[in-house]
Amino acid sequence: MAETGIEERSSSTTHPDRLLVHPIARWHADHSNFARLLDLVEQQVDAMHEGKRPDYELMRSIVYYLRQYPDRFHHPREDVAFARMAQRDPRLQLEIARRMQEHVVIAATGETLLKFLDDIIAGVVIDGPALEAAAATYLVYYRHHLDAEDRQVIPRAMELLTSEDWRAVAAIPTELDPLFGADVDARYSELRKRIAREPKPAEG
Ligand SMILES: [Fe+2]
Ligand SMILES: [Fe+2]
Repeated sequence: MAETGIEERSSSTTHPDRLLVHPIARWHADHSNFARLLDLVEQQVDAMHEGKRPDYELMRSIVYYLRQYPDRFHHPREDVAFARMAQRDPRLQLEIARRMQEHVVIAATGETLLKFLDDIIAGVVIDGPALEAAAATYLVYYRHHLDAEDRQVIPRAMELLTSEDWRAVAAIPTELDPLFGADVDARYSELRKRIAREPKPAEG
């Protein structure tokens, strides 16, 4: 494995979000968090499919978070890591190009889904089957993306990327995670409580 750097989420305090975190560990932890959220969305899609009223507020909170945090911070960091991987091993270019394109699609489909949810919560009459299809498609697409990164990209990143590469990744501006971090943004307090009530996912 290439030598890897350590990401410092900088501060003199011992805030849990600011502890020294190995970038690969942070990468896996983010994916695990996103997968938990997608499971919650799936429960709501199942309810829709059974003709029950889903928890639209919960869905909106999740999709809003996915637009605000992964799309703005997790994916841009990956894009830097991926570009460097493709430089170090040009055989990865096609695979890397796919994953980067998926970031664009995830953001666009997330925005569409968020608009549906904003509308229905505002009382706008929407096309129910179209909302169900948008949510189900988002789930399948997002899960495929996480799985491809976990299985194919992260193991290669561990082999290929150097300390300098990881420093370049860590240099991309980020914010503390407003949902899974220690300081939960007020808009996510209900979602955070809901996550805490769910069974913990199996490790690995
Ligand atoms: Fe990604
Ligand atoms: Fe990712």
